[in-house]
Amino acid sequence: MAVIPVALAGRAYDVVIEEGLMARLSDAAAPYLKGYGTARPVPFVADTNTHRLYAAGVDANLAAQGMTAQWFVVAPGEDAKTWGVLEKLTDWLLALGVTRKDHVFALGGGVVGDLVGFACAITKRGCGFVQLPTTLLAQVDSSVGGKTAINTAAGKNLIGAFHQPSLVLIDPLVLATLPEREMRAGYAEVLKYGLLGDAAFFGWLEANGDKVLAREPGALEHAIATSIAMKAQIVAEDERETEDRRALLNLGHTFGHALEAETGFSDRLLHGEAVALGMVLAARYSARRGEISAADAERAAGAIGASGLPSRLSALGLDCNGAALVDHMRHDKKAEGTTLPFLLLRGLGEACVARDVDLADIAAFLDGELAA
Ligand code: GLY
Repeated sequence: MAVIPVALAGRAYDVVIEEGLMARLSDAAAPYLKGYGTARPVPFVADTNTHRLYAAGVDANLAAQGMTAQWFVVAPGEDAKTWGVLEKLTDWLLALGVTRKDHVFALGGGVVGDLVGFACAITKRGCGFVQLPTTLLAQVDSSVGGKTAINTAAGKNLIGAFHQPSLVLIDPLVLATLPEREMRAGYAEVLKYGLLGDAAFFGWLEANGDKVLAREPGALEHAIATSIAMKAQIVAEDERETEDRRALLNLGHTFGHALEAETGFSDRLLHGEAVALGMVLAARYSARRGEISAADAERAAGAIGASGLPSRLSALGLDCNGAALVDHMRHDKKAEGTTLPFLLLRGLGEACVARDVDLADIAAFLDGELAA
């Protein structure tokens, strides 16, 4: 078991990692269930998959404590992060009589967490929520740190709020049913922590990544806890990403976002896969600028490829050039006028923000990678 505090003044909360938490939810989340009972059901939001897998267990667990759950179930995938679903969800919360002191439970991956977090940020000007992340990606990244959002026609996550959860409960056992491809996509974010700020952890992942991906309990819990400890520290230092500290968590995301846009934000390239390839590109571009050696860039690419994640841009078979990918980057929400901060590597385990990157040079670099 690990308990990792997120030390935000006035809004501090814990991330608890322990096998079996889902089975003893009413105990683990007891302070956030106060005020609920049979006459006042606990609001739970899930997608059809997590509802099918866990609703019966949650219902039974709450019933043993004299409580019932009321479920709001969304379709799986990004389509749930829309104004339409947000409106239905907030109407549902208001109809349930949710107050600012209440907590809503988000049971699912990043989509459910982002949607519920944003709904709770704006319902009654802010009610509480508890994150119960069920994917590796949500466990090590999106459930912690308070970024909440929906998507609009203009892009992903452009409408949202910083709204911190009151508790994050991570049960590694729920990953047993996660498809291999999604497990690997989440693992990309684990590798990200090693690459951006912890060389020893990166080395540990090179040696033990196969155990993490095989969901061996000790290795998995260590990987999740180490990742969250770094994220918690960074979020505590720069909650709103104003000081180039939280921005480090975007390693691989600028290149990755362009690849997601080019592939239509579709199953052709999952977010974590795009981040993986984005980190390879960030490492190779860092080597091109002389920030790291070519050998280190290839070591980063090797760790990513060895875990079954995409590590060669040319292998994606994109029908575009570097300029088209750069064009997608110009619409990135991190864009600052005509420039864009890039997350580069100064070493394996040391990321930095570069604001002097010439987008024409990025396009030329990407042309080379597309042809390699
Ligand atoms: N996923 C990046 C962040 O939470 O800042």
